[in-house]
Amino acid sequence: MLSLTLLALWAVGPSFTWAADCTREFLQTAADSLVAAQKGGDPTLLQPVSDALVYRENFADAAFDSGILASALPIDHSRHDLDTTQCATYTELISATGVEQRVIGVQMYFTDNTVSKIDALVTGPDDWLFNATSTLDWASKENWDVIPEADRDTREVIQAAADAYCDIFSDKSVVVPWGHPCARLEGGLYTGNGGPDDRCDVGIPSGVSLVDRRYVIDETVGTVSVFLSFATIPDSHEFRVEKGKLRFVHTLTVMTAKGNGASKERR
Ligand SMILES: *[C@@H]1O[C@H](CO)[C@@H](O)[C@H](O)[C@H]1NC(C)=O
Repeated sequence: MLSLTLLALWAVGPSFTWAADCTREFLQTAADSLVAAQKGGDPTLLQPVSDALVYRENFADAAFDSGILASALPIDHSRHDLDTTQCATYTELISATGVEQRVIGVQMYFTDNTVSKIDALVTGPDDWLFNATSTLDWASKENWDVIPEADRDTREVIQAAADAYCDIFSDKSVVVPWGHPCARLEGGLYTGNGGPDDRCDVGIPSGVSLVDRRYVIDETVGTVSVFLSFATIPDSHEFRVEKGKLRFVHTLTVMTAKGNGASKERR
């Protein structure tokens, strides 16, 4: 009886940390509220937000209340990566059917069970290879479903695959765990056709450093979101890794950080 009680206490013990409620359910609810806020054009729908929120858009400090969430957008596709280890999320949002097309990537970091930092990357018509219709088409066809537990990779393996990919831009000797097939959705451009011969070891420039990488990792779906500076350009690379190999890569590259603000003012 006593030992059972002790065992029960021991079993719940490790969850008594600052991240006590940082479960998948908690992160999912918060990330879903981000989607609701974007649909509604109402930043207050994002919950729960810290009083000390740090908000950045396209890697520059910005006003949360008048940021991208203040523009109501139809959301045709959204998908989350939930990182319970770091207590962080990444959400991909595609708005292809509204007056203004947008593809948005958002990393959120939580402290004391509130959103304490948001990094939003907002792409539009003037950004790299932008075509939200095409992004929506391809993203909808890909399988980013939950991976059976026995087949999952560790955080380390998932991040290493992403890092190898990012490193090859400046060092061609890096061995990247390319999957076969592997497809890259770069802005709205797809490097394959959805078939078995798709490759993503194509069209990779050299001599550019991908730096200041911030990772959000979800082992249940084999994903890692990396926010980085592509040389100096705000950029998002998100990877789906299957059995240690790269299966999908999605990129957002903000060529005109100010253009997004300007287009909001044009309305
Ligand atoms: C965007 O992609 C769609 C679907 O692939 C295509 O029909 C359309 O012509 C593209 N638009 C532009 C501006 O390239």
